[in-house]
Amino acid sequence: ADIRSYTFVIRAQPVTRLCQTNDIITVNGQFPGPTLNVTSGDTLVVKVLNYARYDVTIHWHGVRQIRTAWADGPEFITQCPIRPGGSYTYRFTLTDQEGTLWWHAHSSWLRATVYGSLIIYPKEGTKYPFPQPCHEPEPIILGEWWNRNPIDVVNQATQTGAPPNISDAFTINAQPGDLYPCSSSDTYRLSVKAGESYLLRIINAALNAELFFTVADHVLMVVAVDSSYTKLLHTEVVMLGPGQTTDVLLIANKPVGKYYIAARAYASAQGIPFDNTTTTAILDYEGSSSSSPVSPNLPAYNDTQTATQFTTGLRSLGSPDHPVNAPFNIDENLFFTVGLGLLDCPGQPCGGPNGKRSTASMNNVSFVFPKTFSLLQAHYFGIQGVFTKDFPDNPPMQFDYTAQNVSTALWSPVRGTKVKVLKYNSAVQIILQGTSIVSAENHPIHLHGYDFYIVGEGFGNFDPQRDPMTFNLIDPPQRNTVGVPVNGWSAIRFVADNPGIWLMHCHLDVHITWGLAMAFLVENGPHPLARLEAPPLDLPVC
Ligand code: C2O
Repeated sequence: ADIRSYTFVIRAQPVTRLCQTNDIITVNGQFPGPTLNVTSGDTLVVKVLNYARYDVTIHWHGVRQIRTAWADGPEFITQCPIRPGGSYTYRFTLTDQEGTLWWHAHSSWLRATVYGSLIIYPKEGTKYPFPQPCHEPEPIILGEWWNRNPIDVVNQATQTGAPPNISDAFTINAQPGDLYPCSSSDTYRLSVKAGESYLLRIINAALNAELFFTVADHVLMVVAVDSSYTKLLHTEVVMLGPGQTTDVLLIANKPVGKYYIAARAYASAQGIPFDNTTTTAILDYEGSSSSSPVSPNLPAYNDTQTATQFTTGLRSLGSPDHPVNAPFNIDENLFFTVGLGLLDCPGQPCGGPNGKRSTASMNNVSFVFPKTFSLLQAHYFGIQGVFTKDFPDNPPMQFDYTAQNVSTALWSPVRGTKVKVLKYNSAVQIILQGTSIVSAENHPIHLHGYDFYIVGEGFGNFDPQRDPMTFNLIDPPQRNTVGVPVNGWSAIRFVADNPGIWLMHCHLDVHITWGLAMAFLVENGPHPLARLEAPPLDLPVC
């Protein structure tokens, strides 16, 4: 295993998209940011220098961070932000992880432009558990572009209480593509040779949209999701929630020509404005003379059936080299509601629905980020008054979570910085139940510090008698981000074997802004190697 050192300079860089030039925040002036190519078992040392005018942190999305929660990155959770002019060095080891992950800023909405891929190759002497592709092109990162500064967009929304503006374009490798104005000549092109195979690593780095992805006329063979291998799944469409990655094999076995690679929103919520544009790239066969690419066949924006068919078709590989370890007996049986709500605005009406302020919660608690210490510092140094340990195991009351018109008494969560304490090595099950208060939609829920197994999902209210009988403990897919289905639920399981403080939140940035988050405090284990490491000396203070 190697030590790989990088320097990330966070700075503004003028970039032109959709005929408009904006100063955006970048890493090393690159957009998207640098791709890190590493090998399983390597140690990464990334020195971040903040030359921008915003606070920043970097999160290594999907990296387990075994005993190194200090390097996880969410601001005010595992560290205080790196102030303008400051620096911090992230140091962590990729223990037994391989596949496609990514990194992004975890501070306000900076990740709109501060993101890049993290590719972890199998250890030397080991191979992919699928046919070795001829080619591994650069990853396909799906993103969102705003004509306005995204930080201004979220700040305005927070001030007024209204939902933030939607983006002006989706992007593939930071390019909107030729269906948008002024974007044709920069459209991303993937050149292929007829008859050869390609491993496409697809990352959804969009802020606020789940996306359907397709390549016109071509079959995609899924081999991994969120850096966990899957059984081969043949599909024409991949659905990715923000935060999720999907690796697919593509064989260039169609007539020599040009074919659209395309993505657009899967918008499960009804009646809520969304960016309904389509981003494109071009799969370009060597020797092709055609000028117009073959059109893609993307599902309708509200096609929940196609989305569900894809997510429920995923299965862990479960081979001797890549076994499934979904816990069978459960120590912590948790039931968390996830959903939106509305808060009253004292004095004058807010800009949200009914003159109220939009909010979001888990188990009726809307998460408030601390300001004076990170949760991890408060935990490690025993600082009182930063968080409380009373995050509830269950919602305060039971009702029909999927009914569209529940009593307004249920709309207003309490605000708090509450954590749920987990004993080291406890086997945890969480039922994530979507609620339909204010609006019903999918919620891509991401857990830091862990991969979990998705042992079940369904529509309607979770039934504790009937539904567990259908759970898949043999080959459930393993992920770090689960799309809780609209008007439905997901069941996840993991073993709490990584001490520290771990954020769990909706990866739609608008929802985390409204408080759709909570944190786990996983206690140290009895052995020295089951304890959180000491903090690095350059850990930023608040
Ligand atoms: Cu990719 Cu907390 O996020």
